[in-house]
Amino acid sequence: MKILKSAEILTEEVVNLKSQGKSIGFVPTMGALHKGHLSLIDYASRDNDIVVVSIFVNPTQFNDKGDYDRYPRILEKDIEKLKKVKCDFVFSPEENEMYPEEDNREFDFGKLDKVMEGEHRPGHFRGVALIVSKLFEIVKPHKAYFGEKDFQQVAVIKHITKQLGFNIEIVSCPIIRENDGLAMSSRNMLLSKYQRANVSLISKTLFEAREMPKKMTVSETKDWVIRTINENPYMDVEYFEIVDGSNLEPINDWGQDEEKVGCIAVHVGNIRLIDNIRFYF
Ligand code: PAJ
Repeated sequence: MKILKSAEILTEEVVNLKSQGKSIGFVPTMGALHKGHLSLIDYASRDNDIVVVSIFVNPTQFNDKGDYDRYPRILEKDIEKLKKVKCDFVFSPEENEMYPEEDNREFDFGKLDKVMEGEHRPGHFRGVALIVSKLFEIVKPHKAYFGEKDFQQVAVIKHITKQLGFNIEIVSCPIIRENDGLAMSSRNMLLSKYQRANVSLISKTLFEAREMPKKMTVSETKDWVIRTINENPYMDVEYFEIVDGSNLEPINDWGQDEEKVGCIAVHVGNIRLIDNIRFYF
């Protein structure tokens, strides 16, 4: 496993490997790796000859300075984890490697950033698009792997990949959860013992919400989820929205065909957690 901080050297390595006919799978991360990240690496290693993992806490996607400052940075531990799995290159650049000068690009996300994370975290997806497009140019992978934990992010990445003309297959991978249902997240390690004991209510409520189409309207279900979680003193729901999974447009009735996904963001003290659930009929 090679650990690189230079974009130029990484590009040289992958171009060379591609000329030998090797396929490249890429997993972008912000580090503080957990089993959710490792599952993406596992998918990448099954599909590709070479796996590249990037670790970079991207400042431009944080709309809250405190969140950026608190974000866990444990590169040495991450590297130990990566040594135990199929990872050929770790790319952990410094900030000036990724942003040598200000990048003023704007992106057209259509309606995708008008709801949920886009609405509540202004500038967030622009920051994600900036860094992911830079990383794609450096790593030049055949396939890139993203988790459905960040359901809206996957839609945004697919959209810009097409728009910017990258010939990269975007593979979306299922959410990995703790035993009590909590979606794994780097931010979970910031939770206090008491907060941690309470946050399983988020996924528990989402799982229960799956039964609601039989007895409640969409709007009653949304109210029920928000009320149930807000009754817990540790938690404050920022939004819960039920959207058409194909275009992220909020739905008003259960309808028939389209895939429906309930997406939530919850504040637990100053930590913000997100999760989502698919509704099956
Ligand atoms: P980060 O939050 O580190 O997540 C890296 C990847 O791991 C994302 O694709 C995310 O959806 C996936 N992931 C996180 N938790 C998961 C879980 N419990 N199950 C499955 N997959 C999970 O997302 C980012 O970083 C950044 O926005 C990034 C794309 C790297 C751009 O900076």
